Amino acid sequence: MSTKVGTAQRHDSALKHVTGQALYIDDMPEPPGTLHGALVLSTEACGRLKKLDLATAATSPDVVAVLAAGDVPGKNDVAPIGQGEPLFAIDRIDYAGQPLALVVAESLDAARAAAERAVVEIEEEEPILDIATALAKKAYVQAPATLSRGDPDDALRRAPHRLTAAFSVGGQEHFYLEGQIAFALPGEDGDIVVHSSTQHPTEVQHICARLLGCDFNRITAVVRRLGGGFGGKESNASWVAGAAAVAANHTGRPVKLRLPREIDMIATGKRHGFDYRYTVGFDDDGRVLALDAVLAADAGWSLDLTPGVVARALTHTDNAYWIPHFRAVGYACRTNRQSNTAFRGFGGPQGVVVMEDALDRIAHHLGRDPNDVRALNFYAEGMDETPYGQKVDENHLARCWAEVKTGGALEQRRAEIDAFNAGHPVLKRGLGLFPLKFGISFNLPHMNQAGALVHVYTDGSIRLNHGGTEMGQGLFIKVAQVVAEVFKVDIDRIRPSATSTAEVPNTSPTAASTGSDLNGWAAWEAANTIKQRMMSYAAEHFGVAQNDIEFADGNVRIAKPGSNQVLSFGELAKLCWLGRVSLSATGFYKTPKIHWDPVAMRGRPFFYFSFGAAMAEVAIDTLTGESRVLRADLVQDCGESLNPAIDLGQIEGAFVQGQGWLTCEELWWDAKGRLKTVGPSTYKIPGSRDVPPVFNVKMLSNAPSREATIFHSKAVGEPPLMLATAVWTALKDAIGAATDRRAPVRLDAPATPERVLAAVVKARTAAR
Ligand code: MTE
Ligand code: MOS
Repeated sequence: MSTKVGTAQRHDSALKHVTGQALYIDDMPEPPGTLHGALVLSTEACGRLKKLDLATAATSPDVVAVLAAGDVPGKNDVAPIGQGEPLFAIDRIDYAGQPLALVVAESLDAARAAAERAVVEIEEEEPILDIATALAKKAYVQAPATLSRGDPDDALRRAPHRLTAAFSVGGQEHFYLEGQIAFALPGEDGDIVVHSSTQHPTEVQHICARLLGCDFNRITAVVRRLGGGFGGKESNASWVAGAAAVAANHTGRPVKLRLPREIDMIATGKRHGFDYRYTVGFDDDGRVLALDAVLAADAGWSLDLTPGVVARALTHTDNAYWIPHFRAVGYACRTNRQSNTAFRGFGGPQGVVVMEDALDRIAHHLGRDPNDVRALNFYAEGMDETPYGQKVDENHLARCWAEVKTGGALEQRRAEIDAFNAGHPVLKRGLGLFPLKFGISFNLPHMNQAGALVHVYTDGSIRLNHGGTEMGQGLFIKVAQVVAEVFKVDIDRIRPSATSTAEVPNTSPTAASTGSDLNGWAAWEAANTIKQRMMSYAAEHFGVAQNDIEFADGNVRIAKPGSNQVLSFGELAKLCWLGRVSLSATGFYKTPKIHWDPVAMRGRPFFYFSFGAAMAEVAIDTLTGESRVLRADLVQDCGESLNPAIDLGQIEGAFVQGQGWLTCEELWWDAKGRLKTVGPSTYKIPGSRDVPPVFNVKMLSNAPSREATIFHSKAVGEPPLMLATAVWTALKDAIGAATDRRAPVRLDAPATPERVLAAVVKARTAAR
């Protein structure tokens, strides 16, 4: 039991998570003098800040400072990639919930009470509150982006059949259990250590430095763990940390800023909602000949990470399908809402739904089986280049599809469901299948790099540090497994440590599911460097060839003619130290083969693709619109899984999170653009009883990645979220059953009871 890669190891913090012993930032002991922050937010969605009177707040009990735009010593800008995204509003108000000021006080209660006493006057202007209005006004945060191939206009004209349709999907709140939080501790000469619940420590460092007008080397961002991020702590965590750092710098005292759930939901960005309109051309068999699609994203008020989200949506509009003539235009609509941001799948989920809708309509139009129509259009030999010019290698679509159909007993269940529907006028069941192809790598090649730092101590214990952050996804245990594998020691000998910009610099965010791919290799490099040094020293010391040295089971065997010698790993470490061998090393990795032209939208943005397939069965009540997922069968390609226990957990969790996005999680703003769903009472995340009662989850067996990924594994964090698309398809199937499939079904997401009911009524009316 000493080599660990590929075995089911429980999360290194699993016991601490369930017993409450895992330390989150709010659990850290507070040094004397710690101050607490509370934000003052805009209550209007659009206008000019006429007056911000903080005098009463400033003189409230226990208040130490109030800080607004004028108190930012450096640049009042927290934009992750663009510019002009102020930490505290200057004169423009761009959404209801925009931070205007920060109150810091001796206690959290005092800070929050004082923040309520801020006097704010806003000269209101007409806000843009939906995608349609933004499109009409050409209000964008960036120029429209187009991904195209061939001549879609001509191909559509010549296609035997053509259909045009529209639909929309809503946004999604991340609902990480630990809200946004940062704790900034000032040191000497302007140094600040910021503990941040961030997926992107380096960006926290940069943004704190930008706000303070200091060198990066004055700021150290530290992250032991996040209580969930899901993309919501990629850019949003930076401004929270920045506000704490500005206050710590201003007061010279430690400052903690923790957003209560309501403030967190009002102030921070979410998944982008999308409106779609497309025309698809196809032949008599249902083979797709051309697609012309418009994907309009609600970017919210600022650029944020929207360019990447739109690019990923466009590069995933093809999903699993060969579309010879293709055009997808992505609009990034500027609205007076929260600035939407990364969310598990990063635009991929919003891309893949397009063809799923189109294929259902094609099947309905031709009177064919939607699953056969899907399979007919899969990428295949000779028809395997994506619209952006990347070849679909190692195509596991057919395998995943076959496994899910067999595992889910498709034929038999289809018959059972049809029989059920024939006998039940009110309750209707539906079945939906979904194939997945998802590209792994950051779309921007330069982001695909990682570093690690490994120390071996003289007792043979190992300290592991790398640029990736642990947010519950199991990155730390996976990377520890890699290091244990290199040294052939027990996993218990490896101590993962908090991510810190002081240990591994210039890191990429832990995002795009690349955490273990990138940091796994970087840690492997670091560990292997040390191992090679230990081997050479041992060879010299024992007078043997390097081939005669074997690391195994926590020991090192030295094969000598006549006598074998065995040392423990620790004994060799000690020996190396006596021999003055460095037992510390950095490792670095950059993903090979990738390149991308963001203007032409062509290249090989992804090192490889991850595949999957899902089948979901649902039931709806046609009188109330309520729905349940009765069963789900999933097959996900994880390559040669580094840790099957973690990966299965990721698949299950991602699926249910995707289910939430498509069914029950509904963001609702009032007519003035104020978000009213600001907590679990009004914003319904899936609960334990929403998990499908029959939930068969497996990883595609015998599918090692052919690319040089770490131990031939594949990323798993985001792809399975999209498998929940099968639930949406199944709901449409059930709605279709309520009308004997006489009319095609439009079902906008989230498919709440209201929407399901409306879709039933509409389909019935259309059928008449
Ligand atoms: N799993 C848990 N438990 N918590 C999270 O916040 N984030 C997801 C996914 N799985 C997340 C999670 C997202 S959005 C991404 S990009 C990946 O984990 C990031 O981690 P990885 O690259 O190490 O898979
Ligand atoms: Mo994940 S949306 O890439 O943080």
